[in-house]
Amino acid sequence: MMNWRIAVCSALVAGCTAATSGDLTVLSMNVAGLPAIIQSNEVPGDKTTNSLLIGTYFAKYGYDIINVQEDFNYHASIYKTDTHVYRTATSGGALIGSGLNTLANFDWINFARVKWDDCSNASGSDCLTPKGFTFMRIQIADGVYIDSYNLHTDAGTEDADETARNSNLQQVADYIDTWSVGNAVIVFGDTNSRYTRTADDITVFRTQNGMTDPWVELVRSGVEPTVESLCSNPSTTNNCETVDKLFYRGNAIVDLTADAFNYESSKFLQSDGNILSDHNPIGVNFTWSLSSKLRQSVYTGGPHGDWFSDLPTLSAYSTLSKPTKLTFSGGSRLDSISITLKDGTALKHGGTGGTASSLTLGTSEYWTSAKICQGQKDSQTRIFYISATTSAGNVVSAGTSTSDCITVTAPTGWQIAGFLGQDGDEIDQLALIFAPK
Ligand SMILES: *[C@@H]1O[C@H](CO)[C@@H](O)[C@H](O)[C@H]1NC(C)=O
Ligand SMILES: *[C@@H]1O[C@H](CO)[C@@H](O)[C@H](O)[C@H]1NC(C)=O
Repeated sequence: MMNWRIAVCSALVAGCTAATSGDLTVLSMNVAGLPAIIQSNEVPGDKTTNSLLIGTYFAKYGYDIINVQEDFNYHASIYKTDTHVYRTATSGGALIGSGLNTLANFDWINFARVKWDDCSNASGSDCLTPKGFTFMRIQIADGVYIDSYNLHTDAGTEDADETARNSNLQQVADYIDTWSVGNAVIVFGDTNSRYTRTADDITVFRTQNGMTDPWVELVRSGVEPTVESLCSNPSTTNNCETVDKLFYRGNAIVDLTADAFNYESSKFLQSDGNILSDHNPIGVNFTWSLSSKLRQSVYTGGPHGDWFSDLPTLSAYSTLSKPTKLTFSGGSRLDSISITLKDGTALKHGGTGGTASSLTLGTSEYWTSAKICQGQKDSQTRIFYISATTSAGNVVSAGTSTSDCITVTAPTGWQIAGFLGQDGDEIDQLALIFAPK
């Protein structure tokens, strides 16, 4: 499943070839972790014992990314037996936390917990605990990122519940449109929604964000249901519908394909055959492969300011208009960065301050490597310095160098053609986009 990972390495290491394709297995599971005295979830057995077993299964099956919901008061028991290397810290038990956590084989950046704007007390007492969603940008291989969302929306089917749930789903869709523009995205969790609960508009992830539900794609040949079908638990078929759902999309850098969707229920049973949760866990297996037209470097800097991406602009070209000019502005730190393409398009980010330095590229000259340095300003990590070196050995730089720098080199045959990251008056976070020469 993960043998490609031996090929993953930093582009800085000589003779090292980064992976260009691989597998990704993910799981979403509502772990029924409300205190037993409040909610039995109609799951037999002791919740602590059951949670230890859930963690044991997480470790045994080794899913690359696991999103859990209702991970409240038995969280420590799940983490005690699970062995994933990267795991979120709990936000607290019931009444305090959101119950959302992620366990993964990969590290991430820009983790955020976001509370719902709306909740409904109509049924399910959803306003009692601060439910919401989480965001993280997971690096699944060198310079290969997926924006991963976990969510647990408002429960219940009274009108006020559906209004709140519609608002919750819309809030995630709008967040994706702000913070994941141009990126590969996977949203998975407990949506409390069904296609037949039309007031929820679970289709918003397809209609607004261009994402696909692999259950609809693979099990239902692309047809969203109009008739409710309930699952037994453990489910013996994938044809029924649960409220636990996943939506995904690739981007101009990484193609994501869902190869399998499965209710993983039969893998999560007590020794006597009883269930461990009142929800069927959902598993999806992906394969991914990198584009031959656009790639990216790793990120450096901090998660402050607004998201920007040149991928939508660059991916619109069938043949890229050649980068002809670089302009960087800086002072104590890096204020702005710009690449001008031959057709006059300017890819510019950051503010208006600083002293500008420019370099005009010759007709067969390309930007091929960069040194980027980060540092601390007002207890936040920002980009302090960039220096670009071209194929002809020319150099342009701006800002102030620090002791915390990375060198980014375009793969052989490729050039640096654009930017991804976060900015405000200055550049907060930065990755570079590569395109073939
Ligand atoms: C998903 O991949 C895992 C690991 O390769 C495999 O064990 C499992 O059977 C796959 N699931 C499906 C539904 O194909
Ligand atoms: C839900 O109930 C709680 C506790 O009674 C109350 O504090 C809260 O304002 C209510 N919220 C809404 C949206 O009705």
